[in-house]
Order: sequence, then C-alpha cells, then structure tokens
Amino acid sequence: MFSALGPFICMKYIPDSQEEEYELTPQDGWFNNLVHPDWGGIDGQLLRLSPADYSDGVYEPSGRDRPNPFLISEAAHQGPSGLGSLRNRTAMMVYFGQQVVEEVLDAQRPGCPREYFNVPIPNHEDIQNRFNPDNKENLEMPFLRTRYDQTTGYSPNNPRQQLNEITPYLDGGLTYGIAKAWTDAIREFKGGRLKALDDKHDPIEKSFPAQNDIRLPMANPPPPRDHTLKNVNRFWRLGNPRGNENPMLLAFGVMWFRWHNKVASDISKVHTDWDDEKIFNEARKRVIAHHQKIVMYDWLPQYLMTNETGGMFEMPAYKKYNPDIHPGISQEFQSAAMRFGHTLVTPGLWVRDTADKSKCNWKSFSINVPGQSAESVHAIRLCNSYWNPQINGGLADTTVQMKNLHTHPGSMNRPNRQQRQDGL
Ligand code: HEM
Repeated sequence: MFSALGPFICMKYIPDSQEEEYELTPQDGWFNNLVHPDWGGIDGQLLRLSPADYSDGVYEPSGRDRPNPFLISEAAHQGPSGLGSLRNRTAMMVYFGQQVVEEVLDAQRPGCPREYFNVPIPNHEDIQNRFNPDNKENLEMPFLRTRYDQTTGYSPNNPRQQLNEITPYLDGGLTYGIAKAWTDAIREFKGGRLKALDDKHDPIEKSFPAQNDIRLPMANPPPPRDHTLKNVNRFWRLGNPRGNENPMLLAFGVMWFRWHNKVASDISKVHTDWDDEKIFNEARKRVIAHHQKIVMYDWLPQYLMTNETGGMFEMPAYKKYNPDIHPGISQEFQSAAMRFGHTLVTPGLWVRDTADKSKCNWKSFSINVPGQSAESVHAIRLCNSYWNPQINGGLADTTVQMKNLHTHPGSMNRPNRQQRQDGL
C-alpha cells in the first residue's frame, strides 16, 4: 500500500547535505492519513451524524412549517443584560473559540448561482421595532444557502452535501493558510519569519503583519457600519482569510504572527547555521504544536466544562493514532454544537488601559463618529468594528493585549438602535 503511494509523498524534504530529513506537514490535508489519504483534505464533504432531511429528500430546505428563528431567538435570549458568566467564563474563551472554528471549518461560502432561503420578519412588536422600523410589508431577512458538492443533490439516493473548504485538522491553516502559495505570500523569506508591517519585525511585541498590498484575496464584505465596499489592501496579511472579521479575532491573528516570529528568532539564535527555510518550517511545526496543545488541553475542557453526567470534563488520555477515525466536521457540529459559541458572543469589549500596569483603568479611544468626543467611547462594539477591525489604526495595538479579553460574556448592555447608529 505505502509503496503505491510513493510518487505522492512529495512532502518529504531532503536537504542537499543528506544529513537529515524531515517531513513537512501537508497543507491541504491530503495524505495526513495514509490509510485514507483523502480524509481531511480540503473541500471534503461535511459528515452527517443523522441522515439529511430535505423537504423533497434531495435539496429543498425543510423547516418552513417550524417556528420562526426570530421568535425562537426572542424567547431564548430575552432577559436582563449585564450579567456575568455563572461559571466565570470570559470573553477570552469565547473569542479563542472563534479562531478554533476558523482553524478547522469553513463551510459558509455561498453556492453559485446564489440561492436564498429568506426568513420572514414576524409580526412581533419588539422584533418589528428592531428589524422593520419603517414598517415595510412582508419584510424578510436575506439568508444565503451554502455552497455544496455539485455532484450531489440529484436524487434521494444522492442528497445535497455541503463542503468544508479548509482542513479539519489543527494544522496551522489559521496562521499560515491552507496552501503553499498563501504561506509564501505572508513570509518574509528571511530569518524564518512571517513578513511584518513596514518590515519592522523588531520589537516583536509591537510588530504587525504586513499590509495586504498584494491583494491577497481575503474575505472583505462591506462593513455593516457604512455598507461601503472597501479596498482589501487595508487589511493585514494573515493565514486566515477571515482573520480581519472583528478586532478580537484579529488580535489572535496578530498574536500568532508574533509568536511565530518569536519562535523563529529563538531557533535562529540556537541554530546559527540554519537557513530561512529550515527555521521557518521548524517554527511553523512548533507553533502548530503550541496551538494544538492550547486548544485540546486548555481551551476545550473550559469550553465544554461538564461531561455528560455533570462532572468536570476531562480530556481522555491520548492512546495512539487511529487511522479509522474520520477527522471531518459533521453538519451537526458545524451548525449547532460549535455554533453554540454564537450565543456567548459579547456585544463588545471594554478595553484596558495598559499604560499604567499598576492600575486597572479602562481605556478611552476615538472612533470616527462625528460630534462625539473620544472620551465618550471606551468599548469596542462588535457592530461597529465588524469587518472594520483596525478602527483608527491604533485600536489593534490595544486589542492585541490579550488581557483585554477578560470581559464576561453578557456583562455589557446591548446598545439600542439609536446608540448603534451613533456608533456607541
Ligand atoms: C465576534 C464574534 C463572531 C462573529 C461576528 C461571528 C460571525 C459568523 C458568521 C457571519 C458566520 C457565517 C454564518 C454563515 O453564513 O453560515 C459564522 C459561522 C460560524 N461561527 Fe461565528 N462568529 C463569531 C464568533 C463565533 C464563536 C465564538 C464561535 C464558537 C466558539 C463561532 C462559531 C461559528 C461556527 C461553528 C460557524 C460555522 C462556520 C462555517 O460553516 O464555516 N463563531 N460566524
């Protein structure tokens, strides 16, 4: 079997000297599992724990006769705001969860041609006030259906299957991208480093990823704050194409960028004879291992917290690699289990002023709202910073202080419509 795979094992890197050889992790997920080489490869179908339930058995959505999602949301989430987490979980845990998602799953690109499954805005006073202030008739929320495997969806024997366009492995796609060309676009090709903004990679703790002045195709929808399509060059180059979606996610992106460069710098001090390529690959390998460790042993137990009998969740001990476990993401995980994290997303974050480390002051900063003084704004609102994460340039510098992510989910009042418009 393995000899038959010989021609494909191109990820083996053999240096000129032949002194040693090491293996590079494949970036597209293929051949990670040598028994099932395609398992975990990019654009694999999402798995199904239960059978598909299309209304026509093939591809038409079901659920038109089920309760309206707005009404479910209203019933489930209505209540006082300003409450801290019962279990002392923090926003750090929530937003770390978002970058775990972006490491293992991307099934949200719309299909081609686009298909809509719009959700009617129900006749409920609060909902109408919020979502239909101009009292339009039969208003609906546009809802795009997801891209799918075009060889499916033809018969009940072959129902439509959605795709994961990244690898489900914790294999560093978040930090390095899922293709070599992407990784090369964010590298400096010196010292094993990722390329820094204005080539200022030192001091590492103040550095930022290079400007995307090469039009790397990062996700870039018009920010809802002003509904204007903006130049993708304003973003920083990150492995995660969606890494600029909000300031908290971006903060993690910047943190992994800095961590890679720190690890590369440490390696280069010890192995003074190593070239850029070797330092880069070694640093990448270590950073991926660090990420895996944090996700599995620090974050996941906190996120799950309890096991099925109510006791504290404990990660089972690792026994050995089992090639018969499919690493793929299931529909149930994609749309419910992991998306549960959305119910914990805070409306925004308070920002700590780190100038005086002996104090715990909040930072005030300016966002570009005409007629408001800088002092009046001291929280990053998600609604204002969505696809607009580097507000005023300096904000990312503050958000990148991970300690700012201490805010408890729910501990900030939701803005009303006027406040949202005012940018507060
Ligand atoms: C600022 C916070 C967040 C924002 C603005 C956000 C926004 C979004 C958006 C717009 C989508 C795409 C929806 C779709 O078209 O299907 C999405 C998908 C998703 N989100 Fe979030 N999200 C956030 C945080 C989180 C967190 C904290 C988690 C879990 C811990 C999470 C889990 C997911 C999952 C599992 C998906 C499906 C991904 C996919 O299919 O590609 N999100 N999110």
